[in-house]
Amino acid sequence: MATLKTLELPHKVLATGFLVTLSCGFFVSHLYLHHEIAGEKDAFVPSLKQISVHFHGEPGTTHLKKMASGPMKKYFSAGQDTKDLAPDEQKEFEAVIDWNDRGAPEDEYWDPVTKSPGKILNIIYDRCVDCHSPTATHKHAKKDSPLDTYPDIVKFTKEDLGMDEGRLLMLSHVHLLGMGLMFLGLGVAVALSGYSKGVRVVLIASGFASVLIDIGGWWAVKYFGPGWAWTVMAGGLLMGFAFGLGTLAALLDLWRPAKYDS
Ligand code: HEC
Repeated sequence: MATLKTLELPHKVLATGFLVTLSCGFFVSHLYLHHEIAGEKDAFVPSLKQISVHFHGEPGTTHLKKMASGPMKKYFSAGQDTKDLAPDEQKEFEAVIDWNDRGAPEDEYWDPVTKSPGKILNIIYDRCVDCHSPTATHKHAKKDSPLDTYPDIVKFTKEDLGMDEGRLLMLSHVHLLGMGLMFLGLGVAVALSGYSKGVRVVLIASGFASVLIDIGGWWAVKYFGPGWAWTVMAGGLLMGFAFGLGTLAALLDLWRPAKYDS
């Protein structure tokens, strides 16, 4: 039976070209993943939290609620330097949160026809537009995130429900087919290498298993929640391991000087 070592030069070049190109593809897909999920944070792999937000989202909260209860909360206070709000300030804060919880109805923000301010816009005028309007002059202003019109603020009041099912189906089928073929190609090379049967079986099986664990994990996180993020992480790490070791093993076997010719 032919093995990598005994292949003719053109076949060796073919196998090497394939493996090197595949490695570049694998590396670029990692860069893309990093760009998509890990964002600017320069972590090498996405965190469990990032995986969870990516697929599952953060039901029950919104960007407005998170900001208003977090870094923006101090602006509900007249002193702007404390998170301990006076009772009337606390009421305004709760009114904004409650408004968002009830689906941010437009007529409480402003009159949909005349645009005259309602209860919520009045609070925003008092507390937030110094910074959150296109013409804000405050030195810490955030002009590109205006809150002074309904269409602007409503962008922040939606729940993040994570990746939608259509996109998940699309990504799943592309990855299952693409990675299935990728591990088929790599698996052929590993199968023809001179390592022991056990090593070859583990390398080949772990490649395919990693794809199924990784993609199964996406769906588990989407529907069963953040507790499953570790499967995506484990699948991804296993994939890196199976791909890296398999490629290295095949390339070594291809080009290691033969001790004897057969
Ligand atoms: C002194 C200026 C200032 C005031 C007043 C202020 N903000 Fe902000 N706001 C900022 C800055 C700066 C950022 C961006 C910082 C960040 O993302 O952490 C921001 C970010 C936000 C964001 C996220 C915007 C985005 O595009 O991601 C929301 C929502 C928000 N603020 C809500 C509010 C609310 C509600 C109020 C009033 C209670 C308020 N802010 C008052 C300066 C301000």
